[in-house]
Formats: sequence, C-alpha cells, structure tokens
Amino acid sequence: MESPFKHIVVTGGAGFIGSNFVHYVYNNFPDVHITVLDKLTYAGNVNNINMLFDSGRVELVEGDIADPKIVDEVASKADAIVHYAAESHNDNSLVSQDEFVQTNFIGTYTLIQAARKYDLRFHHVSTDEVYGDLPYREELPGHGEGAGEKFTPETPYNPTSPYSSTKAASDLIVRAWVRSFGLKATISNCSNNYGPYQHIEKFIPRQITNILSGIKPKLYGDGKNVRDWIHTEDHSSGVWAILTKGRYGETYLIGADGEKNNKEVLEDILTRMDKSADDYDRIIDPRGDAHDKRYAIDNTKLREELGWEPKHTDFESGLQATIDWYKENEDWWKAEKDAVEAKYAETQKIVEK
Ligand code: NAD
Ligand code: DAU
Repeated sequence: MESPFKHIVVTGGAGFIGSNFVHYVYNNFPDVHITVLDKLTYAGNVNNINMLFDSGRVELVEGDIADPKIVDEVASKADAIVHYAAESHNDNSLVSQDEFVQTNFIGTYTLIQAARKYDLRFHHVSTDEVYGDLPYREELPGHGEGAGEKFTPETPYNPTSPYSSTKAASDLIVRAWVRSFGLKATISNCSNNYGPYQHIEKFIPRQITNILSGIKPKLYGDGKNVRDWIHTEDHSSGVWAILTKGRYGETYLIGADGEKNNKEVLEDILTRMDKSADDYDRIIDPRGDAHDKRYAIDNTKLREELGWEPKHTDFESGLQATIDWYKENEDWWKAEKDAVEAKYAETQKIVEK
C-alpha cells in the first residue's frame, strides 16, 4: 500500500506500542522510511526493532525528545512525526515524578516546536486516562447502558495520577499549538494495550512472567477495576488511519470494546497456564483511593469518520497468543525479571490471609 508520507519519525519506537507500530508500518507500507528516536530508558529495548535495521528502511537515533538539538536534526529530514515516547507507568509515577514532567510535557513541547519549524504532520499518541475514570457499571442506573457511560472525545479532562496528568498537559499544548500556530496535528487517546514486547512491569506480562518464573501473580485490591483491552496491532492501525486521514486539530479515541476487570483477566491467565484460578497474592492496593475504577472507549468517531475496524476482536485468542509469545521469548524478559520484582517488593505489601 502507498503512504502519503515517505519518511516518518517514530518517537519511543523501541518501547512496547511504538515498536509494534514500527513493525506495522514496515510490514504494510514498503515505501516508508522510519527513523526511531528513542532514549532507550529502562522501557526501551533495541531488540524490539533491530531485526529491521538490515533492510535500510528503519534506523535508530538514540536520544532524548527533550533535547532540541537532536530533535531538530531528525525533524529536518522527515515529513511526519508520530509521537509515542513517554514515561508510561502509573506505579512509577507515584514513586518519582521528575521524569514524567520532563519527558511527557517538556519532551512533547520540544517536538511540537520542531514540527512547527519544519511544517511537519504531527500525531500525538495519548491515553484514555486523561479523562479520569468512570463509575463501575453496577453503580449506574440501568447498569451503564445509557449515554455518558464511555469516554468520548468531548469528555472533560480529569486526570488522577502524575502519569495521566502529564499526558493530559501534553495533549493540551498540542491542541493550543494547532489553534495558535496552525500545527498540522491530531491526537489519539487509546485504552489499555496488550500484545508482544510489553514491559514486564505492566499487569498482563507481569502475571504471565510471574507464573513462568514460579512466582505468584499479584492482584491489586479487590481486582474490580475495569480496563478496556485492545490488541496493540489494532492501536497501530488506528494511529495509521488518523495520521493519514484524520482532520487537523481533532481528537480520536481508539478502543475495541474490550472491558474486563483485573480479576477476570488474571483468572483467565492462570487457567490458561494450567494453574488454579485462585492461585495468586492479593496486594494492598498501591494506588489506594486514586486507583481509577473503570475505563471504556466510545470508538464511534474513528469507525464512522475514518472507516477503522479492529481486527483482534476476540480477547481470549489474543491473550493466548500473548501468553505464548512470553513463553517463547524468555530471552527477551528473563534477565530483568528479578530486578523488576525486587523494585515492586520495596513498595507493595501482600494482604495477609
Ligand atoms: P513504554 O514505556 O513501553 O515505551 C516508552 C518508550 O519511550 C521507550 O522505548 C522509552 O525508551 C522511550 N522514551 C522514554 N522517555 C524518552 C525520552 N525522554 N526521549 C526519547 N525516548 C524516550 O510505553 P508504551 O506502553 O509503549 O506507551 C507508548 C505511548 O502510548 C505512551 O505515550 C503512552 O502514554 C501511550 N499509551 C499507552 C497505552 C498502554 O496500554 N501501554 C495505552 C494508551 C496510550
Ligand atoms: O488506559 C491506558 C493506560 O493503560 C496507559 O496510558 C498506560 O501507559 C498503561 O500503563 C496502562 O495503565 P494502567 O495503569 O491501567 O496499566 P497497568 O498494567 O499498570 O495496570 C492495569 C491494571 O492492573 C490496573 O488496574 C492495576 C492492576 N495491576 C497492575 C499490576 C502491575 C494489578 O492488579 N497487579 C499488578 O501487578
């Protein structure tokens, strides 16, 4: 397929969702050259993309999105920037905040100034968490079948964590730059992704790799919190649709109707891995009262305006494929496992039975 852009910069393209997007573009758009700009923090892994380097179509520039010099250098050669780079983990943002403000806010500011200078198309990848959370369905009249039960592009911003508030702040400057300077930008807010290459600090890979390492899975609180799961490949196709067909200044929500609570997801993982469904530790909720209850995306605008459809509509088979990927790719995660769990152990306490 032909692309309107011949040279794109993908920030954070060595992380989970960014690297999946790099593979998606590489596989589907052979006329596109991709420069990945990535600082390779603890969450970036060159092994997510290095198999593509020999083609000459994908290159890595190791650098910080908050560094105007390096950003100027890569921007000057491109015709679009797709911006994924971020500090992305809520739990980390409760421990230390500097890098969240620096990367998520100052980094985005640095990129939009360069996009403005070179008149580049800019797509800003954000999160549904900027909208805060929704009540549980059972708390709603009619169990949430009415209007206002999902996030829409019109939902007011109401972020609750240092992570989500710095993402919200970055969305707002992108919006203001469109209005004030005619920045050719779009924004997408996506729900929780799952799939290959996700860092093992995150919920689904943490539980899978715990079981593979002989450690009990860890469930926060009562496990009632609901997340709206989408396969990362569907996120990629959504971003591509918005990048190539979206209207400047618009926000599009990406989600695939995948609402599940954490307990159901964990029980599903345990059963699929031949364990008893209750073979896990409950953790005193490290997010406390600030733990967002429920996320849910209304994807009508993306479907109806841009004709996007998710491909991975069966969460069960997507989850099985993800379990298989972590089983088959122990080399990718094994070396980090002890350190990730040791860091969690410093702050997280098991509920005594
Ligand atoms: P990730 O933590 O797996 O990857 C982040 C990447 O950004 C890493 O490669 C890291 O090295 C890089 N990075 C961090 N700071 C940088 C800096 N200062 N300069 C350059 N590179 C830097 O994150 P992810 O889960 O892949 O999320 C990617 C984006 O998608 C983020 O913007 C996040 O807010 C958004 N998002 C994530 C989800 C999800 O479920 N994970 C859902 C919706 C939106
Ligand atoms: O909604 C989109 C967001 O999804 C993205 O913006 C974030 O970058 C991404 O990290 C994710 O945020 P969450 O906080 O929802 O994801 P996390 O994987 O950290 O946790 C998912 C749920 O699982 C959450 O309710 C907390 C819970 N949890 C998490 C871990 C790590 C557990 O019960 N046990 C765990 O060990």
